[in-house]
Amino acid sequence: MSLITTFEEYKEQYKKSIEQPEQFWAEQAEQFVWKKRWDNVLDWNFVEPKIEWFAGGKLNITENCLDRHLAERGDQVAYYWEPNEPGDNPFQYTYSELHEQVCKFANVLKKNGAKKGDRICIYMPMVPELAVALLACARIGAIHSVVFGGFSALALSGRIQDCDCNIVITSDGAYRGAKSIPIKDVVDEALEICPSVKKVIVVERTNSPIKMVAGRDVLWSEEMKEASSDCLAEAMDAEDILFILYTSGSTGKPKGVVHTCGGYMVYTHYTFENVFQYKKDEVYWCTADIGWITGHSYIVYAPLLAGATSVMFEGIPTYPDAGRFWQVIDKYKVNIFYTAPTAIRALEAAGLDFVKPYKLDSLKVLGSVGEPINEEAWNWYNVNIGKENCPIVDTWWQTETGGILISPLAGITKTKPSFATLPLPGIQPVLVDDKGNEITGNGVEGNLCIKFPWPSIIRTTYGDHERCRQTYFATYPGLYFTGDGCKRDLDGYYRITGRVDDVMNVSGHRIGTAEVESAINMHVDVVESAVVAFPHDIKGQGIYAYVICTNKNKSAEFLRLEIMAEITKLIGPIAKPDKIQIVSGLPKTRSGKIMRRILRKIAEGDINNLGDISTLLDPSIVEEIKAGAL
Ligand code: WTA
Repeated sequence: MSLITTFEEYKEQYKKSIEQPEQFWAEQAEQFVWKKRWDNVLDWNFVEPKIEWFAGGKLNITENCLDRHLAERGDQVAYYWEPNEPGDNPFQYTYSELHEQVCKFANVLKKNGAKKGDRICIYMPMVPELAVALLACARIGAIHSVVFGGFSALALSGRIQDCDCNIVITSDGAYRGAKSIPIKDVVDEALEICPSVKKVIVVERTNSPIKMVAGRDVLWSEEMKEASSDCLAEAMDAEDILFILYTSGSTGKPKGVVHTCGGYMVYTHYTFENVFQYKKDEVYWCTADIGWITGHSYIVYAPLLAGATSVMFEGIPTYPDAGRFWQVIDKYKVNIFYTAPTAIRALEAAGLDFVKPYKLDSLKVLGSVGEPINEEAWNWYNVNIGKENCPIVDTWWQTETGGILISPLAGITKTKPSFATLPLPGIQPVLVDDKGNEITGNGVEGNLCIKFPWPSIIRTTYGDHERCRQTYFATYPGLYFTGDGCKRDLDGYYRITGRVDDVMNVSGHRIGTAEVESAINMHVDVVESAVVAFPHDIKGQGIYAYVICTNKNKSAEFLRLEIMAEITKLIGPIAKPDKIQIVSGLPKTRSGKIMRRILRKIAEGDINNLGDISTLLDPSIVEEIKAGAL
């Protein structure tokens, strides 16, 4: 089926996708190369849950990302790679070069013992080899589990252990802005408690000295020298696992969200082309890190499936200065630019002097992802970057959804600042109240659920299907629950208001309050803690921790530093609280439940509006916390 080009066509496709979902998605799937056609388009229930798309079909996603394009687009650039240092040599891969690298590295993986179904952990900076690594896993049917390079050794080891990886792909070091990070040392430390890992493949990026463990560690460059560039793509069932990606929830350890081959391919491709209205020869740049879902879906898989030319960027938005994004846009004549509200707000705060030197006249479409975009940031982006001439697509989705679910189609859907607007074809959102009753009509607000599966919906949480059921399908029986609150205005437009569970969104990173609390509680002097989010001008949300400490001799400042170090060690610097308040107790009900509502209000600075506190075991604690609020 062709690209949607008018709002009428959107409405037609939407209608068809609801009335005849199987036929609708089968037509989308037909444009790909299948080694064997599927037997059944869809089989599902949200009770177990069990969701299968294109079952019985055989394919390899890399044939659709790469081989399929070679005849027509072999010499077209797949990735322009922009290094951290603006003066350093950029690098590019054409589709044929990328294909060759992927085949070679797939053979390297095989030589090092990898086979179909194995789990391979990828812990790397944003270097071109990272995209090659994901695709090489997919080529041989190994399951990649990418861990964001900012996580600590302990966080990394937890993720490696959870899915029993046998290989880790990493680099010697990483450049991020002015910093050089010893990535390999982190891996070495993590692997002290990961006996399942037999091989480590190391890309040389910084050429910093590293320790190579004999028999375990090999260099990417050495291995690639000998590798053949012929590698047959493994035939995968549509429902075989493509990857695992860990994400935080409201309770417990991060969970491994599982996506499978066929549906993920069909849905990410469909949404990429329609949301961004990608046209042949355009240059597309998504600034996410491949360590998160946005990078998996909209840097690696979907753009390649669409035969697009992308920019991949190693650095950060503010290095060497806050004009870097705009300089890179002019350099590669980027047409479609996709970034996060937190970056927009940080660059807005840096001032227009960093924008003025750049033309930005290649831009056609702007995107936003990862957190609610406030109206001010939306307007700034629209006026100063888009010159009021580029539609903004505010794309709402999640690690679990695999692809974008609610978003304008660029230039087609009328936009409204801070609204993700309308569901894409195939997506049936419903708002429910806390009891699970559907809230119908417009001008309403509720908990956002989806009532029908789309091809890239989460299939399970790795190794623990019950957790998947509990987390997403048990709160409101018969519905997939997103964890987000949402308004539907009088025009039927959706506006995501943020999480309604205990998940925080800090600079677009998902962090569970429970994860931070358990890290803080590891400190020997801490008895108990409670963590909440508060509104933050740049990060969207900041982290506020209330901590009960037993050691009266320790200064608050010293304790704070130690807690920060503990969190950096257990999770990573992204989870460090912005504020730590030492308290002598927490507001608890008589049944021992912490009343987070009160703590949130205090963290927000709304101390005169705490509501009913009479059910607290000890209401006086509230006065103490209010008095000491930071
Ligand atoms: C939030 C990132 C408002 C939301 C793709 C969701 C958004 C969580 C938007 C998922 C948006 C993402 N507007 N909120 N456009 N996009 N979110 O798994 O709370 O890292 O549940 O996936 O980010 O974060 P995740």
